[in-house]
Amino acid sequence: MTPLLQARGIAKWALRDASLSVAAGECVALLGPSGSGKTTLVRILATLLAPESGHVAAPPLRRIGLVQQRPGFLRASTLDNVAYPLRVRGASRATARRVAAERLVALGLAARADAGAWTLSGGEAQRAGLARALVARPDALLLDEATNQLDPEWTRRVEDLLRAERARGCAVLLVTHSVAQARRLADRVALLEEGRIVEEGPAAETLASPRTERLRAFVEMA
Ligand SMILES: Nc1ncnc2c1ncn2[C@@H]1O[C@H](COP(=O)(O)OP(=O)(O)O)[C@@H](O)[C@H]1O
Ligand SMILES: [Mg+2]
Repeated sequence: MTPLLQARGIAKWALRDASLSVAAGECVALLGPSGSGKTTLVRILATLLAPESGHVAAPPLRRIGLVQQRPGFLRASTLDNVAYPLRVRGASRATARRVAAERLVALGLAARADAGAWTLSGGEAQRAGLARALVARPDALLLDEATNQLDPEWTRRVEDLLRAERARGCAVLLVTHSVAQARRLADRVALLEEGRIVEEGPAAETLASPRTERLRAFVEMA
């Protein structure tokens, strides 16, 4: 299958020779210690950052939904922030706000729609960031530690939502420190260390019996 997101031989900052791909309808969990370059790789895959060397293939940026580790918002209401990706694609204000409002309902933020996005709590901001990333039905979704401030109930609901996105053919790249979450969601897992993917494989069997000492240690500690 042709990968929707593909990075080959990437060097940039902590990354030395990192290669990773995600196909349409596939969920890949990217694991790795802090500072290993996960965020760098996500930004390169989203074409927000150019690598020093290596090759990147991705759909146009407007077809990518990105939830950054610390989502930034415009100084506007939560609703207008979530409507924004539709506005820049040419939707009318009314249409954009109507579709955005549906996303806010799905993510439990209806009551926060008119509140300034800067007033949201950590978990609310993560859900608003996800609503914004999904509002224009992206072909690829990149989540950079995007559920780490959610309570268990919202983690479960968001995971259900991500399964639905994958089922409609979206490529999902999930950066997470949670091995349990990778087990629940991912088709494939990859461990980034020392600038490259040191182990990669089908999620269930790779996490159950890692081939490398590095992944074994990561799974035991997580
Ligand atoms: N603008 C920058 N210039 C130089 N180094 C950077 C820059 N941004 C990040 N880095 C470095 O790249 C490394 C990887 O960072 P990051 O991709 O955020 O890792 P992770 O997301 O895995 O924690 C870190 O050591 C960080 O200091
Ligand atoms: Mg990071």
